[in-house]
Amino acid sequence: MDKVEELQKLKKEMEEDKSLPLREGATQLVFGEGNPDAEIYCAGEAPGYHEDQQGRPFVGQAGQLLNRTLGTIGLKREDVYISNVVRFRPPSNRDPQPTEIAAFQPYVDREIKIIDPKVIVTLGRFSMNKFLPGEMISRVHGRPRKVTWHGCGVTIVPMYHPAAALRSPQVMQEFQEDFKKLPQILDEAKKEEREEKREQMNLL
Ligand code: URA
Repeated sequence: MDKVEELQKLKKEMEEDKSLPLREGATQLVFGEGNPDAEIYCAGEAPGYHEDQQGRPFVGQAGQLLNRTLGTIGLKREDVYISNVVRFRPPSNRDPQPTEIAAFQPYVDREIKIIDPKVIVTLGRFSMNKFLPGEMISRVHGRPRKVTWHGCGVTIVPMYHPAAALRSPQVMQEFQEDFKKLPQILDEAKKEEREEKREQMNLL
């Protein structure tokens, strides 16, 4: 099965999984979208009104800001993979609860495994806490951190949520500055991976 087929299978499983929370109040499942071979996986929080209506992640104002900001570093939305840690819209856009995030986690992890990105950009504190529990976004935003995730090394780059940037000029500035660091962070992550592979070859 290629990546597209694997993603389709995963989406179908989620659509059919009646145990997933928040389904009742939502219009539809909002699955991830983008380049299945992306080096950058962007992890948001949960669908809002527009995402729920269209069945696509980050298509409202926050999504437009994300698209523009990716543009400033020479990337199109289609170059990366965009997803959320929760896939049904919470009622009245309330914060997702820990049990809800946990319920979606096995699917999110499988999606990440299929994409196999070099870098995971977390957007906001909920997706950041999945990889960097207990951290404060105001302290760590824009600073890459290498973690082992299900046995594989991956670089996490915690960023502010674009919706938070839209609410505060200060956060907007930091959000944009953090994104400018992303090309170099990606290059370094790829270099490290090449070096690790070379070391493994030498050990064989
Ligand atoms: N905010 C998110 O976290 N995800 C979306 O898809 C839209 C807005």
